[in-house]
Amino acid sequence: MVDIKLGQLLNSLSYALDIAENRYYGHSRRTAYIAYYIAKEIGLKEEDIIDIYYASLIHDIGMAGDLSNYSVMDIHYHDDLKKEHCALGYKILDKLPLKKEIKKYILYHHEEWEGTGPYGLKENSIPLASQIIHLADYFEIFFIRNTEYKVVDYDVNIISRWLDKYRNKMFQSYLCDAFLEVISKERFWLDLKSININLVLEIIEPGKNISIDIEDLQKISEAFSILIDAKSKFTYEHSKGISNITCNFATYLGYNPLMIKKLTIAANLHDIGKFVIPLNILEKPGKLTSTEFSIIKSHAYYTKLILKQVEGIEDIAEWAGNHHEKLNGKGYPEKLDEKTLTKEDQLIAFADIFQALTEDRPYRNGMNPKNAIDIMKDMAEKGYLCNSMLSDFKQVVL
Ligand SMILES: [Fe+2]
Ligand SMILES: [Fe+2]
Ligand SMILES: [Fe+2]
Repeated sequence: MVDIKLGQLLNSLSYALDIAENRYYGHSRRTAYIAYYIAKEIGLKEEDIIDIYYASLIHDIGMAGDLSNYSVMDIHYHDDLKKEHCALGYKILDKLPLKKEIKKYILYHHEEWEGTGPYGLKENSIPLASQIIHLADYFEIFFIRNTEYKVVDYDVNIISRWLDKYRNKMFQSYLCDAFLEVISKERFWLDLKSININLVLEIIEPGKNISIDIEDLQKISEAFSILIDAKSKFTYEHSKGISNITCNFATYLGYNPLMIKKLTIAANLHDIGKFVIPLNILEKPGKLTSTEFSIIKSHAYYTKLILKQVEGIEDIAEWAGNHHEKLNGKGYPEKLDEKTLTKEDQLIAFADIFQALTEDRPYRNGMNPKNAIDIMKDMAEKGYLCNSMLSDFKQVVL
């Protein structure tokens, strides 16, 4: 039985979304923190507070993928982009095994009290949870713009004036008052300015005992693989392809159904660290400079860092994060070698290399499968890949 804590998983995915190009660190986590305290202040039930907390953590999920070239400010201040990221987010959310309320809260997180938001919902027709996330989201951006993480003395009057500007326009008056109550406590500011907001969230996290099973994790990994692949036109089917090859190869090698599922999840998420890599480097048509290459290489490091935040999937995090390691120690980012690399690490690496060779890249067209296997044969002879696994792999892909 694999038991994964949903809060931990969403928190680590929020980290992945916030360290992406054009984002800033901790936006979703701080939004979740602020929304949590507003929800508590107005006395919502625990169950609703949990939903608001989860929705806040991934409220900007629609910014990843197709919109990854736009910055946080672009998205939050341009009407078209506001609607687009809400709609794209909802499309991805549809594939996630989350409560439908959470999906709805995210869809409407940019609605404005007077009805001027992307979907034109007005006043009490906007879900209260979406209104809370909206206020938390905009305040978080305002806060970061004005403090840039510096430990400054807060001035409640400035925030009052900021709220008054939007009261009854963007935000319902009742929520503005509740928010003023929240910010009157010193703890709020100390937490918000903490360099480790994640530590704060670990302490306050509502619904700590809610967990999901491996089937749900698989669905989440599939949805994220679509987002990862959508970042660049050259990788639009990369993770999906690797996932299919991994599933076939693992079945051929006789793994049990649970292991096949876990390996497929690792394949879906192996490039989640690519969110971090700027698109102009990812799609550069010419040769990469050594700095650009080290930036590219960091994606495997980030994959492991993101997935290791979730207890119970340590093995999946290893297989996913080790997909560029080589048996002769010439891979990256940890220079692991045959002494530590497992058969499962190799399995994902095989699928990744084959898929990469057979798909188009900015600097070359995709190869036919036979030529790709020839290159892999050469790699195996030089000690990069396991020779005996390659003969099995050939049976699966040719
Ligand atoms: Fe947003
Ligand atoms: Fe946001
Ligand atoms: Fe990769």
